Amino acid sequence: MILVLDFGSQYNQLITRRIRELGVYSELHSHKLTAAEIKEMNPKGIILSGGPHSVYDENSFRCDPELFELDIPILGICYGMQLMALHFGGQVEKAVNREYGKALIDLNDDPILFKDSPKQQTVWMSHGDKVKQVPEQFTVDATSSSTPIAAMSHPEKALYGVQYHPEVRHSEYGNHLLKQFVFDVCQSTGNWTIENFIEMEVEKIQEIVGDRNVLCALSGGVDSSVVAALIHKAIGDQLTCIFVDHGLLRKNEADDVMKVFADDFHMNIIKVDAKDRFLSKLEGVDDPEKKRKIIGNEFIYVFDDEATKLKDMDFLAQGTLYTDIIESGTETAQTIKSHHNVGGLPENMQFELIEPLNTLFKDEVRELGSQLGIPDRIIWRQPFPGPGLAIRVLGAITEEKLEIVRESDAILREEIAKAGLDRDIWQYFTVLPNIRSVGVMGDARTYDYTIGIRAVTSIDGMTSDWARIPWDVLEKVSTRLVNDVQHINRVVYDITSKPPATIEWE
Ligand code: XMP
Repeated sequence: MILVLDFGSQYNQLITRRIRELGVYSELHSHKLTAAEIKEMNPKGIILSGGPHSVYDENSFRCDPELFELDIPILGICYGMQLMALHFGGQVEKAVNREYGKALIDLNDDPILFKDSPKQQTVWMSHGDKVKQVPEQFTVDATSSSTPIAAMSHPEKALYGVQYHPEVRHSEYGNHLLKQFVFDVCQSTGNWTIENFIEMEVEKIQEIVGDRNVLCALSGGVDSSVVAALIHKAIGDQLTCIFVDHGLLRKNEADDVMKVFADDFHMNIIKVDAKDRFLSKLEGVDDPEKKRKIIGNEFIYVFDDEATKLKDMDFLAQGTLYTDIIESGTETAQTIKSHHNVGGLPENMQFELIEPLNTLFKDEVRELGSQLGIPDRIIWRQPFPGPGLAIRVLGAITEEKLEIVRESDAILREEIAKAGLDRDIWQYFTVLPNIRSVGVMGDARTYDYTIGIRAVTSIDGMTSDWARIPWDVLEKVSTRLVNDVQHINRVVYDITSKPPATIEWE
């Protein structure tokens, strides 16, 4: 395992990713880990990430200085290199100007991290401070015109530092450098794959769960589906899933989820048909926030009702991903948190949480799901909000309106898939604003609903741009929507980015 210590760089997750892509398991942890804790983890190497601070800032992040004495190879990147230089008595120069972007470095001699790479190479710099003088016994391995000490090392102690960011693709031989560090210096073996992740995790789950039982809320989304499949592989019928159909799902969604997991995977699934419960609570409610709250609360009540009927459930499985953990602070990375009472569940229901995906990134979860035999249409499912179609019918919900969004959404999805755009567009759906307008169909006047198409490109849903769907695809969708869905006589395309709009309309 290669341990990456997080000093707050925007690229810190990327370092972990790059190492895993080399087939070596890597984890990102807080810089606050003590040397004793690190020793316990027994990593083959440590990478100190970059960070936004100056080493001279009053509250700058520091690591336990004893980690430099652990006899474990260390690579410091940017801020990490400056910390290393300072620790061993070198000098760090406070920035006058920042250096950001591409730079050319020239290598000195034949440093091990650069072995077999060109003497001159393009790298990506993003720093303020820089090392002005290397500590005694360190050598300068690379220089650039504005950064005379672009790389340094003390090979006998297996200590290395680079001022640039090898984890970024713009650093032409960055991957090569990481590879050298991981294999040549740290002597990692590179046999980490999703297949052996499955093996390891199955064993771990069996060991933790023993002959006890696990409960899982299955939504049919990627994360909960993969969690359920993985735990099922480990403990079979000791897993029970609860699938709540709130009547706000997309066309055929409930049947599809049941088919895959109950029929094909033979899982224990309790399907709760709670449509009437949800719709009666939502009747006449037109405020978006109220709608969301009602759905969120009702979901917990339904889940409670079902869960309390079950006896002897000890664990609750959740599809928490590595990114969720990293974003809420790297100190929290743990597989099991005991006696965590899940928000809203009754006091007397105490579960231990089991979160077997919490070391994986989204694309790794997809690969894992694929290996476990989950079909592509679930693995590559676009994000779908918990409140479902309720926030795509603007204002108060009626069954008729739900049917219009459900049918129109199915047509849009079908046409986007036919056009081969389903993996390029991050999310696409229809919305039913509370608008009716005049139209003419077959010589007769109509007064019917307008439907909106929303399609966006995004990386994480935090920001997005509207997707440039080709006109002819839009034309086909528009024609089908007015012809095939009753009560639609006008189609509009939402061309707002986020911000200022949000992706969903409510
Ligand atoms: P917005 O509309 O805020 O949405 O731009 C960003 C992303 O989050 C999804 N979304 C939700 N997901 N529960 C969820 O699980 C929710 O209540 C919820 N609201 C929005 C939305 O579909 C988009 O992908």
